[in-house]
Parts: sequence; structure tokens; C-alpha cells
Amino acid sequence: MAVTFASTNQNKYREVQSILSTHGISVDFAQVELIEIQSDSLEEIAKEKAKSAFAKVGRRPVIVEDDGLYVDALKGFPGQYSSHAFNTIGNEGILKLLVGSKDRLAHFRSLIAFFDGRTLSISEGRVAGRISDRITEGGWGYDPIFIPDYADLTFGQLREGKSKYSHRRKALEKFAQWYQKR
Ligand code: IMP
Repeated sequence: MAVTFASTNQNKYREVQSILSTHGISVDFAQVELIEIQSDSLEEIAKEKAKSAFAKVGRRPVIVEDDGLYVDALKGFPGQYSSHAFNTIGNEGILKLLVGSKDRLAHFRSLIAFFDGRTLSISEGRVAGRISDRITEGGWGYDPIFIPDYADLTFGQLREGKSKYSHRRKALEKFAQWYQKR
């Protein structure tokens, strides 16, 4: 069983490949730039991304991933704007927005969207946690400021341990179960 993962993000591919290989699903990487529609819904963004990826990789079964970090005290921001927020205000900016806030609760969502030209399927994973007081070492993206509930360290500090219960793992486990039953 093989599927193509379309993304520009090598870090995501490494995590996706290591998780899906444990389910006997082999994953190729197509490093392609995909158009993201503007929407308040992460589901809609992921679905449209999967359809455009399918065309871009030569009409092969494809999966794409869309994530968001949702900070309670910021009413869910950056959410579906996580990528833009990371590239502009970054981790430092998120910490600044939370200065003086006792509420540090946050969660990550990961949506895996699969499309093979006929079937479109979405699998979701979430991990709850909190935003740290400082930027730690390790990881990528928001990893250095996100402490999952199951640990006292940030995703960055957890390094390989991150994959064990991450939002991405939960979404991929659901996807693998669905994919193997087809
Ligand atoms: P996108 O789905 O690639 O648009 O991701 C949204 C944003 O969330 C990007 O800025 C990523 O860097 C960040 N992000 C997604 N997944 C993770 C993760 O596992 N750890 C840290 N940051 C992440």
C-alpha cells in the first residue's frame, strides 16, 4: 500500500513516514507548493488542498496535512492562520500576546486529508497542552513553546518523544485504520 504525501515541509514528511510505516503503509514525498484557500474552516482548507495536490502529483492517491495551534486566551488564535502567524510574529510574538495571562491553555489540531480522485476523507487528531513561559530548544514551528498535557517538557525538548502522542500521530493512526479497511 502506497500513498504520496504532498507538502513543502520535510519535517512533517519525516513524522508522517515514521508513523505510517508502522502500519505497513509506504509513503512517497512530493515536495510541492499547494494553494491554500482562505476559509475559517480547517476542514475546507484541507479538502481543497487534497484536491489540488491530487492533480499536482499526477493523479495518484495523495494525502496532505493541515495544522493549527489554538490558544484559549487568544480565542483560538492563531488557529487556521498558524502558518502566517508563525512567519510573521513567530513564537516570540505568541509569548508577547500572552504576557500577564494566567490562562496558557492551548491545543494543536492536525487534519489529514486523503483524495484518490473519487474518495475524499478527513482524519483529525488533537493534543491538548499549554504555552510555555519561554522559548525552549529543539523541534520546529511552535514546538519550542508548546507543552503537551502528557509531559512537563515542550514538544521541542521532547524531540523523538513528541511523535508518541502528537496531534499528527493521532490523525495518522485514524487515517491508517480507515485506509486499511477500504
Ligand atoms: P500548516 O498546516 O503547514 O499550515 O501548519 C500551520 C503552522 O503550524 C505552521 O507554521 C507550522 O510550523 C505549525 N505546525 C504545524 N505542526 C506543528 C508541529 O507539530 N509542531 C510545531 N509547529 C507545527
